[in-house]
Amino acid sequence: MIKTINSAENLKGKIKVPGDKSISHRSVMLGSIANGTTHVSGFLTGDDCLSTIDCFRKMGIEIKIDGTDVTIHGKGLHGLKKPNETLDVGNSGTTLRLITGILAAQNFDCHITGDSSIQKRPMDRVSRPLSLMGASITGNSGEKLFAPFKISGRKLKAIDYTLPVASAQVKSAIILAALYADGTTTITEPEPTRNHTEIMLNYFGANIKNDGNKIICGPVEELYAKDITVPADISSAAYFMAAGIISPDSDITIENVGVNPTRTGIIDVFKEMGADITLENEKIICGEETADINVKTSSLKGVEIGGKIIPRLIDEIPIIAVAACFAEGQTVIKDAQELKVKETNRIKTVVEELKKMGANITETDDGMIINGGNPLKGAIVDSHGDHRIAMSCAIAGIMANGNTLIENSQCVDISFPKFFELLDSLR
Ligand code: S3P
Repeated sequence: MIKTINSAENLKGKIKVPGDKSISHRSVMLGSIANGTTHVSGFLTGDDCLSTIDCFRKMGIEIKIDGTDVTIHGKGLHGLKKPNETLDVGNSGTTLRLITGILAAQNFDCHITGDSSIQKRPMDRVSRPLSLMGASITGNSGEKLFAPFKISGRKLKAIDYTLPVASAQVKSAIILAALYADGTTTITEPEPTRNHTEIMLNYFGANIKNDGNKIICGPVEELYAKDITVPADISSAAYFMAAGIISPDSDITIENVGVNPTRTGIIDVFKEMGADITLENEKIICGEETADINVKTSSLKGVEIGGKIIPRLIDEIPIIAVAACFAEGQTVIKDAQELKVKETNRIKTVVEELKKMGANITETDDGMIINGGNPLKGAIVDSHGDHRIAMSCAIAGIMANGNTLIENSQCVDISFPKFFELLDSLR
């Protein structure tokens, strides 16, 4: 699908964006291995989270979807059944990495795969620690592991493991496997990453502790189903935060957004760039901090982004790059090599597509350099099948002179069904 974006200003309104992708995935996974029924409201019915539901249904879990309400009939820690066919995670790295942690401990073998993008994403970062726990994960014969692969469930042993890269997906895979291990597992993170797995597991009755940069997780007897309200996804809110900040005469409030401190790097960066952002109506729901986020048109200045903050805004870098095009001066993004192993190599795809629109942006080995202040012009751009590239191009498009055509735009459905409709409703 090709989507045409016209320039726009005067974006005003109170909006709701869909539920958090990370929390929605985890609600299905934990709901499936808990005892009892979990009712989830505000679930993200994007393609990625539907892939997670599909995998657990194939393992005998009854899951009902009614709009954004999802009901999961959990069967306990040992209640999953061997699937009759290969599990398919589609485009979802979170599904693949986290589910591998659960499958490593089951009493059956299964095969797992995903789409062409997923088959290029590194899986040895998960198979290495899980193998140390005694798991058997076998795939291509090379040194690095990619999907498709086979997971043969084993009795697992506890480990002490230092993550070589800051990754919540890898951390979560180990935590999920540790639920089934024979002792206490300790994971050391190089930088703090999103902690939704820990929060939700404790909400379900586990006892995961944090000690500085260590996560300590013991095995559990069982998990207890509990109802979950999923906050709106800050990674989806990010596009509308950027739109409200950079487009003239705008004032947007995004309601009930998850503002877990492990996810709010974008707020810190936009504030440092000079944006007018306020958080209102702050609450804690199911252990997760939430707030309404208000943004108003602001003059931005370039900043340097790197180090510890990167995992707190890793998915927002494409849209931060768009905002930086409209900032006075230079923005340098560094220490973001992880972008190379996302749905696309996002250093490359962001730079390539924004250049087509006339941006002064240069690729570096671990990020990019953007010289702001060059007006953007409408162009034909390509999402490369990456949802976050499609949405970032759309926001660049509303600020460009002339129309922008986004090729392969339907991929927004991965994390944000109805993204374009919501953008249109603000005009
Ligand atoms: C996610 C963690 C991040 C993020 C991804 C979702 C999660 O990946 O980029 O979109 O839900 O745990 P890494 O942990 O691999 O950096």
